[in-house]
Amino acid sequence: MDGTLPSPSRTGMGAALRQDSALKHCTGEARFLDDLPEPPGMLHAALALSPAAHGVLAPLDLAPARAVPGVVAALGPSDIPGRNDISPSGLAAEVLFAEGKVEHWSQPLAVVVATTRDAAIAGAAALRPGIEPLPPVLSVEEALAAKALLMPPQVIERGKWQAALEAAPVKLRGEFRCGGQEHFYLEGQIALAVPGEDGDIALHSSTQHPTEVQHIAARVLGYDYNRITVQCRRMGGGFGGKESNASWVAAVAALAARATGRPVKLRLARKADMAVTGKRHPFLYRWRAGCDAEGRLLALDATMAADGGHSLDLSGGVIFRAVTHALNAYDVPALRVTGLACKTNTVSNTAFRGFGGPQGALLMEDVLFAAARATGLPVDALRERNFAGGPNGGETPYGQPLEGDLIRRVWAEAKQGADWERRRAEVDAFNAHHPTLRKGLGGFALAFGISFGITAMNQAGALVHVYTDGSIRLNHGGTEMGQGLFIKVAQVVAEVFGVEVERIRITGTSTAEVPNTAPTAASTGSDLNGWAAHAAASAIRGRMAEAAAALWGVREAEVAFAEGHVRAGNHAMEFGELAQHCWTRRISLSATGFYKTPDIHWDAKAMRGQPFFYFSYGAAFAEVLVDRLTGEYRVTRADLVQDCGRSLNPAVDRGQIEGAFIQGLGWLTCEELWWDAAGRLRTLGPSTYKIPGSREMPPVFNLRLLADAPARANTIFRSKAVGEPPLLLATCVWNALRDATGAARLDLPATPERVLAAFRR
Ligand code: MTE
Ligand code: MOS
Repeated sequence: MDGTLPSPSRTGMGAALRQDSALKHCTGEARFLDDLPEPPGMLHAALALSPAAHGVLAPLDLAPARAVPGVVAALGPSDIPGRNDISPSGLAAEVLFAEGKVEHWSQPLAVVVATTRDAAIAGAAALRPGIEPLPPVLSVEEALAAKALLMPPQVIERGKWQAALEAAPVKLRGEFRCGGQEHFYLEGQIALAVPGEDGDIALHSSTQHPTEVQHIAARVLGYDYNRITVQCRRMGGGFGGKESNASWVAAVAALAARATGRPVKLRLARKADMAVTGKRHPFLYRWRAGCDAEGRLLALDATMAADGGHSLDLSGGVIFRAVTHALNAYDVPALRVTGLACKTNTVSNTAFRGFGGPQGALLMEDVLFAAARATGLPVDALRERNFAGGPNGGETPYGQPLEGDLIRRVWAEAKQGADWERRRAEVDAFNAHHPTLRKGLGGFALAFGISFGITAMNQAGALVHVYTDGSIRLNHGGTEMGQGLFIKVAQVVAEVFGVEVERIRITGTSTAEVPNTAPTAASTGSDLNGWAAHAAASAIRGRMAEAAAALWGVREAEVAFAEGHVRAGNHAMEFGELAQHCWTRRISLSATGFYKTPDIHWDAKAMRGQPFFYFSYGAAFAEVLVDRLTGEYRVTRADLVQDCGRSLNPAVDRGQIEGAFIQGLGWLTCEELWWDAAGRLRTLGPSTYKIPGSREMPPVFNLRLLADAPARANTIFRSKAVGEPPLLLATCVWNALRDATGAARLDLPATPERVLAAFRR
């Protein structure tokens, strides 16, 4: 397999081990939150949601809910003992329950708790909110016209772009849009709050961010953080949707548990989940650019306006990533890129795999297509001409070096693997004679920055115990959402101790074991928690090595840990034996580990710095077959090359790349969110919201991890993050559809309707 260590050890780094719960996922033995035994006396919660998208809200009379049989309590904003504020950024208050006004359809108004889930839902349905309607703002255009922004613009500027635009021999302009995306995690939002002594709360949450769940529940309850313990063994998918949204869901359960003194579970039904939680930000793009006759880009002025929904949530970070990824793998010497977070009366849009990066990277694709049309040159030639950096380096407009040689390498490898030149000729020949079908080819190259945009978030902790039988317990601040983080971090610990991975007990995330953590997001999970666990394990190994050296009368440096044994010269001992020996010598076999990403900084005012620890590179090519009479199409082939450095676990990484690609394909092709004129989301389940299925899998799907990928020496075992970047590779499908239709504009998602219209244009 490409991209692995030359000789992968069976147990540690580079081993293609399955996700830690893969078999249990298949048999159903893996416990998700709703599978946990329900504590005696547990109540169920249901949310009362706004029937209007925008309006003045009268104080809600909760009596009708309380009158429903089985209902134990109904709680609104005035029942919140702490603050009615669930803002993850803390920059502006964001209400848990609407007060005085409603700002989007299905906004939570109150919670009803009852002895059964049906009774709770019936109680919530009995409420009659008094709303004086106001006209809702439902599109980015309307928000722009009303100057309704959630935060100041984020602008990256370099060079004299205005003069360069005017002087450019070829002038280009464009406008297009991309839609949002529902996370469609298999396990919906869910939390279980169990009150303990003195009103302390144990909070089980399906969350990517246990620490934020703790903070927001504490803020709502008016508690110190130390009274709330948050646990999460696994999520049935998060994809960014449980980075901030899980926090308020859990806060509702905690609020109800505190008010009733009984355990409370809140599980959103799929419809409610889709109606109430934020999604990927839709974007509207307007740009002007200039190039020379050879298609070399000289100047760009672009505005990317995101639909942030009714409140800020994580829009600041999403816009940051969109503007820092606006050039993606390309370079334009003079430019201004403006990112706007528009305020509309829809759900508050949030993190979604790629976090604004996928939206940012669409911009240059549109620019390159326009340049190709204007110059009559093939778009792929223009890609190659405009790639960032060269063998001599090169800088992003915000001042961070990019490895231009690596961009060219992944591109060349993918192109060769796709047999591009030959198939171009084949496709052209096919298109020349077929009366109704059209084939299209599209390429895409990627440079995706790894690290949280907020420097302080790039830190992690771990807690490792070695027991006296040599078994090991591992805990860290990262969460498992299916991405294989737990097995990867266990592999790191196995490598440090030189033991087989089965010896390591993987445990659920808990704020009581590792505090003050960052979310598992921005693809940083294995980088951050891998290093933190490495630090903890190394501390214990150091003490064990010292004990062995003393026992055997050798130097500590001679003591080696491998294959479940500890050896030095002629001496050898089973790992567990040494652990027992350490105990008799009163040596601690437990340690915490801490890690912070080095070398990163960002000046948010100047919009300059080196916010990313490194870049992850990739390239992809797709072929589509389109029916020009109906607009229906299939992706018939995809060829991907992704840079994972030296993959920690090629089996997990391949799964991540395949899954990300298909999820990206869904966003760009078939997943369409549709709001009616009243601002009601009408695509509330799989019957109306089409996620990719087995039929969308390209029948030819070639994936390679970049061979001999040179990751920085101070990444964890020279690996690279993989969670989000390959989602962007699906952009090659958009490009293939543009190639097939020849249309100047193809909005996203490129549904068959839009593809059909593109042919007609
Ligand atoms: N893979 C699965 N199976 N399920 C998920 O929810 N989330 C993605 C990605 N891969 C996700 C996934 C997102 S949005 C991120 S940021 C990363 O995993 C987070 O995990 P990592 O940092 O450990 O890669
Ligand atoms: Mo991923 S969008 O950073 O949770």
